[in-house]
Amino acid sequence: MVSHDDIQQAAAILRAGRLVAFPTETVYGLGADARNPEAIRRLFAAKGRPIDHPVIVHLASADAMPQWVSCVPSTAVMLAAAFWPGPLTLVLPRAAHVLDLVTGGQETVAIRVPRHPVAQALLEAFGDGIVAPSANRFGRLSPTHANHVRTELGDTVDLILDGGPTDVGVESTIVDLSGDRPVLLRPGGITPAQLTAALGEALDAPHAASPRASGTLPSHYAPRTPLDVIAPDDLEERATQCTARGSHVAVLARRKALSTLSGIAWYIASADATTYAHVLYATLRALDAGGYDRILVEDVPDDGAWLAVWDRLHRAAYRGEK
Ligand code: TXA
Ligand code: MG
Repeated sequence: MVSHDDIQQAAAILRAGRLVAFPTETVYGLGADARNPEAIRRLFAAKGRPIDHPVIVHLASADAMPQWVSCVPSTAVMLAAAFWPGPLTLVLPRAAHVLDLVTGGQETVAIRVPRHPVAQALLEAFGDGIVAPSANRFGRLSPTHANHVRTELGDTVDLILDGGPTDVGVESTIVDLSGDRPVLLRPGGITPAQLTAALGEALDAPHAASPRASGTLPSHYAPRTPLDVIAPDDLEERATQCTARGSHVAVLARRKALSTLSGIAWYIASADATTYAHVLYATLRALDAGGYDRILVEDVPDDGAWLAVWDRLHRAAYRGEK
């Protein structure tokens, strides 16, 4: 449990230019004062993240958004009304004072109002914007439990607020509203259908001129164990082939094995997209720690409620062009 005193202490640590890890409804974030360049440099160092990658500014409410952006388009008003507080990040033209360290030197800034009560309490107590990337080492799986943060970042974080496991389990949906048309930069906790319903129009896919997003790099959110995403019908055959070559294989599938497969660890995943997302990163961490040579994950649909899970699985599987 996080107490009132913990929140006050966390706000004081942020004011002193230090780092606080805190739960949001998506994943744990590693927070720093969004107006303090030294604190943000410390944050990048703790994550091992390249300095030119932009970070999300978290706010207590949409009311503070005009302080951080140079204009608020009507699309932002609609999406904020529909989904904030919640797992949605909006990319908008930056206000002049926003640090290059926050925007990655781009003309846009990403804004999110999280709904987790601990995140909300921290933002209220701090009283200003908090930049918070996911509290993991760069390129690795995002943390959904406080102990994931502890194991991965340990002493580099001044305080970890333990709010238990996060709810959504995958990162926020990122929508770019800085251009002529809304663009879906990263699928996440809010589905495309929900966005379309709120906006009255479908979103575009990212194009060459879209703002950069590190979560949209091909290889991201990855366990250390090689992971392959396999078509449902090919699972047994691939698992058997790998085992025949001497690999110790774990399979993650939404169904049982069709035949008895010796020497293969077969894990049943949820057939429900929301539940699957909720435990996805914890499951991949557990499989990663299981001493397997290879993880085979049954492919999931690339649309609707499954899109964010599909996206994260395929990024976890990416090991460069072969
Ligand atoms: O759910 C979340 O969004 C979590 C929690 C902690 O809020 N945060 C998160 O942050 O996932 P991070 O830094 O791991 O991912 C943020 C993504 C990155 O891909 C980054 O490149 C992108 O947002 N981003 C940030 N500012 C941007 C901008 N101005 N334009 C385009 N993309 C931006
Ligand atoms: Mg991240």
